[in-house]
Amino acid sequence: MKLAITGPTSGIGAVAFSKLTPHFKEVFMIARNEAKAKKLIETLTIQDQKKVKFIYCDLTDMESVVAAAKIIKEKTSNLDVLINNAGGIFQNKEITKDGFEMSLAANHLGHFLLTHHLMPLLLTSGSPKVINVSSEAHRAAKVDFNDLNYKQKKFSSFTSYANVKLFNILFIKSLAEKFGEKGLNAFSLHPGVVKTNFGKETAGIFGFFWKLAAPFMITAADGAKTTIYLAKTKIDSLKNGYYFKKSKPVKPSTEANSEKMRDRLWLESEALLKHWL
Ligand SMILES: NC(=O)c1ccc[n+]([C@@H]2O[C@H](COP(=O)([O-])OP(=O)(O)OC[C@H]3O[C@@H](n4cnc5c(N)ncnc54)[C@H](OP(=O)(O)O)[C@@H]3O)[C@@H](O)[C@H]2O)c1
Repeated sequence: MKLAITGPTSGIGAVAFSKLTPHFKEVFMIARNEAKAKKLIETLTIQDQKKVKFIYCDLTDMESVVAAAKIIKEKTSNLDVLINNAGGIFQNKEITKDGFEMSLAANHLGHFLLTHHLMPLLLTSGSPKVINVSSEAHRAAKVDFNDLNYKQKKFSSFTSYANVKLFNILFIKSLAEKFGEKGLNAFSLHPGVVKTNFGKETAGIFGFFWKLAAPFMITAADGAKTTIYLAKTKIDSLKNGYYFKKSKPVKPSTEANSEKMRDRLWLESEALLKHWL
């Protein structure tokens, strides 16, 4: 069994990476910080260290995403589990060199592109899975598909984060719908409110509440449990495309179940990424 995971250098992803590696034959550690990755690899047993391949990827740079997928394709012809875990909230409006709003690129577009390029490897496996780490924040989404990169609208850090976490769920539902018959399983999840590097540099109202919530947050070890559960467990095919919390399927927002929304997101993502698909 082969695993690929984004954002394995910190928080929830680091725990999921460390706990899942012993269960896989080969692990692709997709990250932008090699020094951090190497440090984490050194904490594994010698036997597990040999399974890990570091793959450089900055999810906000689409050339880098394509290059990462190409390297993985050169190293393997199949992949069993892809965990799209990396992400974050951005306090200010930032535009990537490709012209995308940073949070859209880091949380959604980079993963959409990565998953697209790794799909042939996934579909070669017996029972492949794609897992997206979303958030309960998706319930606060206010999506404007005509202005995904905030060219006209005033930027809101929290709304843009809520939107992309909704996209994580919509994207998973589309994957289950489009590739379920070919054997693909796709799940999204909320990890809990977890004490990690997430939100540390955010000021404003969100930053204020995030700091207030700190004493009540769960550990990264607890926050990684649903990701690990989904990666290791065979889930009933009737639950393909579902959203999970505490390792149980739960109902996401009405928008997250909207076929119209997921179809529009798919089309808009393809249009934005057409140079790299
Ligand atoms: N913490 C929570 O309460 C919470 C709640 C709901 C959902 N989530 C979601 O859980 C996921 C993991 O977050 P976390 O809490 O573990 O936060 P974290 O400690 O900040 O870890 C985020 C990970 O994403 C990576 N990353 C960020 N931007 C990237 C980019 N442009 N290219 C490649 N990698 C990038 C980071 O890499 P570096 O190490 O290089 O920075 C890091 O490995 C995120 O998707 C987040 O939205 C978290």
